[in-house]
Amino acid sequence: MTLAELDAIRQGWIERCNRFIAAAIERRERQAPSLADAMRHATLDGGKRMRPLLVYAAGTTLGADPATLDAPAAAIELVHAYSLVHDDLPAMDNDALRRGKPTVHVAFGEANAILAGDALLMLAFEVLTESPSPPATLLAMVKDLAQASGMQGMVAGQAIDLAAVGQAAAAQPMDAEQLRRMHGAKTGALIRCAVRLGALAADTDEGTQEQLDAFASALGLAFQIRDDILDVEGDPQLIGKTVGKDAANHKPTYPALLGMDASHQLLEQLVQQMHHALDRIPADTRMLGELARFSTRRSH
Ligand code: IPE
Ligand code: IPE
Ligand code: MG
Ligand code: MG
Ligand code: MG
Repeated sequence: MTLAELDAIRQGWIERCNRFIAAAIERRERQAPSLADAMRHATLDGGKRMRPLLVYAAGTTLGADPATLDAPAAAIELVHAYSLVHDDLPAMDNDALRRGKPTVHVAFGEANAILAGDALLMLAFEVLTESPSPPATLLAMVKDLAQASGMQGMVAGQAIDLAAVGQAAAAQPMDAEQLRRMHGAKTGALIRCAVRLGALAADTDEGTQEQLDAFASALGLAFQIRDDILDVEGDPQLIGKTVGKDAANHKPTYPALLGMDASHQLLEQLVQQMHHALDRIPADTRMLGELARFSTRRSH
């Protein structure tokens, strides 16, 4: 497969996911059309769709029928979108720009942003139950997504992040291990879950699952380190977010703890770990490798 062919497949998956999300919101919008507008603002028109791409890439790599991947791909993107809407709220990161547009609370008001986030989260689980996978697979997917999103995953990471903000200048700033755990939860949990959802749809064997987990753990950490680096040295036009906010908010980040050079070096080590894990999977893992490459080198 050439790079252009891989890119065309990736584009097809993004369109598939967007269509699925747009239709899922449209089917349910009659009750509260302005809520649906806020949900569309948060999910469509912008965003890299990294988590759905990982669902499609892991699933198809291991032989899953793409029709069984649409619902889990959309579901995890809906959870991610909800997490961003709430992350941007004044009580959290207080950001006004996301994906090159005003954040949901700026465009629709704070109360509507909270509700849009709530509704996106619930829609995620509703659409997941509509997947054509067998009931036992579906149940495993629901459990995995719930665990990755909640108090053992993304929400836990966000809680650690926010609790640390006031302590950055204090006597005990976070050490590297605590930072790794925070990133592993706030961003890594959903990235690992995305890969697992794909593997679940494909009914993958344990050995492959172990390598996929190793791949996804490294990717999750790398993804957030790249996000932290871009907050320091990214181009605001490309990123579509306000840069420099982490330092201004005294956020615990790798650039703040280790500096830029060491953060870049760590990213390269993680790339090696990812390729090492992929090399041990007896399938054509080029698409996962491409997504890993993009995640760590991306400029937005
Ligand atoms: C931003 O996620 C927040 C993090 C978890 C790093 P993305 O960089 O995936 O944001 P979008 O979806 O492309 O906007
Ligand atoms: C957010 O991390 C992680 C989430 C779980 C939403 P950041 O706060 O660094 O994400 P951005 O930079 O606002 O996208
Ligand atoms: Mg945040
Ligand atoms: Mg933020
Ligand atoms: Mg950030």
